[in-house]
Amino acid sequence: MLHGEKVRLRALEAEDLAHCLKWLNDWNVVRTLSAVWYPISRQAERAWLERRVLDDDPTRKSFVIESLSGQYLGNCGLDLMDPRDRKARVGIVIGLPEYWDKGFGREALKLLAQYAFDFLNLRKLYLETYAFNPRALKCYQDAGFVQEGVFRREFFREGQYHDIIRMGLFKEELK
Ligand SMILES: CC(C)(COP(=O)(O)OP(=O)(O)OC[C@H]1O[C@@H](n2cnc3c(N)ncnc32)[C@H](O)[C@@H]1OP(=O)(O)O)[C@@H](O)C(=O)NCCC(=O)NCCS
Repeated sequence: MLHGEKVRLRALEAEDLAHCLKWLNDWNVVRTLSAVWYPISRQAERAWLERRVLDDDPTRKSFVIESLSGQYLGNCGLDLMDPRDRKARVGIVIGLPEYWDKGFGREALKLLAQYAFDFLNLRKLYLETYAFNPRALKCYQDAGFVQEGVFRREFFREGQYHDIIRMGLFKEELK
């Protein structure tokens, strides 16, 4: 378990199904996520969780973000881990909107990055986010991520195409 001052990261459990299903079926949350099929059935999510809980793929690692009192807040993780380039992609969601803008995302990212750099010996993290997601952009910038490029009109959402911003982080840039 990875401990911060506001949140901790723990392993994903099969019992997290109900928490994950709640936000996965909340359009207000998933509209800013790319890798989500909406709406998602209990059966499909259970199958996904069971695969992830077994944790048998060395190219990815999933965590639950919870408060220090044990309240489920969301999920984060690394995937596309590449042993040659020593890089990985970051994903994060605080699943309950009432917990947005309280610094939980920023601290979860910091813990995840420390794990990636100091435990997994990765060299670089990167992520992609919609240009229309100023909350995520601010959170990532505050954690030290630097914009590396823009994929123009890359993604279709809510009737139009949107730019995607790619950001990257090296260990020495982590704030
Ligand atoms: C994006 C997300 C992970 C950020 O986590 P969080 O805990 O809400 O973020 P933080 O509180 O650490 O930081 C958010 C910052 O954005 C700011 N912010 C919020 N709305 C904003 C806006 N419209 N414009 C600019 N800044 C904004 C907040 O004030 C805060 O900055 P502050 O700490 O200086 O006050 C979380 O909101 C979330 O999961 N959202 C839904 C799913 C999502 O978008 N995931 C990311 C996909 S790439």
